[in-house]
Amino acid sequence: MRLDLVPSRAVLIAQITDIHVGFAPDEQPEELNLTRFRATLARLLDGPNRPELLVLSGDITDHGDVQSFAKTAALLADCPIPILPLVGNHDSRAGLLSAFPQVMPAEGGFLHYAVEAPLGLRIICLDTLEEGRHGGAFCEARAAWLAAQLAEAPGQPTLIFMHHPPVGSGIDWMDPAPGEPWIERLYRVLKGQHQVQAIHCGHLHRPITTRFAGIPLGVTPSVAPLVAMDLTPIDKHAPDNRELITTEPPTYALHRWDGRSLVSHYERVGDWQVLARFTPALQPMIEGMFAERD
Ligand SMILES: [Fe+2]
Ligand SMILES: [Fe+2]
Repeated sequence: MRLDLVPSRAVLIAQITDIHVGFAPDEQPEELNLTRFRATLARLLDGPNRPELLVLSGDITDHGDVQSFAKTAALLADCPIPILPLVGNHDSRAGLLSAFPQVMPAEGGFLHYAVEAPLGLRIICLDTLEEGRHGGAFCEARAAWLAAQLAEAPGQPTLIFMHHPPVGSGIDWMDPAPGEPWIERLYRVLKGQHQVQAIHCGHLHRPITTRFAGIPLGVTPSVAPLVAMDLTPIDKHAPDNRELITTEPPTYALHRWDGRSLVSHYERVGDWQVLARFTPALQPMIEGMFAERD
């Protein structure tokens, strides 16, 4: 698929993840997750930084049902930019296809695909769903598909999106077990693929950055409530009243590609106060910031 986009100096790829529509559909006046999604979309699309593309990196819904996908699609009906949706473990492929008919299932029914973005960037969206399983999956068929995609354009800067981070974070109850076979399989495909600029994931509901197979990897926090920041070991047999989920604000990412480097920004969506604006009073300060550059 080729996208008809011509950005002037950089392409902005927005990432929204883990919306979990349908977690509490009877909440009044509206489900909290829909409210958080509405606020995130408004900030993204009405704010100063209009992206050229929007990636939804999985757990779009909480139960994978068609009704929740339809609610999500309804909020996106006026979205003026192309949407690249991925499945998460809470989704279903059939549900995603019902809301986003632009996605064409690949051989084996997997919802993975590659997109040519502006300024020479290639975007590959992976499918790490095994229906009924919380953790990720990446079978031999998907590994062969990814290897073939990477072999098609070995010199082209490439950005990978996938729902499940193939790394441990230290938040034990959300992490994969060490050495899970799907992670080893993905590692073997990605090792030495120097054209891959970064891998961006969801699923964890918290921000992290690390490396995987030598490639920078980031997790964008959720739109739905976040996973609590607690890195202490957990005993699954001994409830210790620790925090698990919090109302930290929804967050989205903007990945900026200027043709040479990829920089990722994260903004928490909230009713923040503006403490300074670019007014004549602050013009000397701004001019001063440029003094060394001019
Ligand atoms: Fe999630
Ligand atoms: Fe997930």
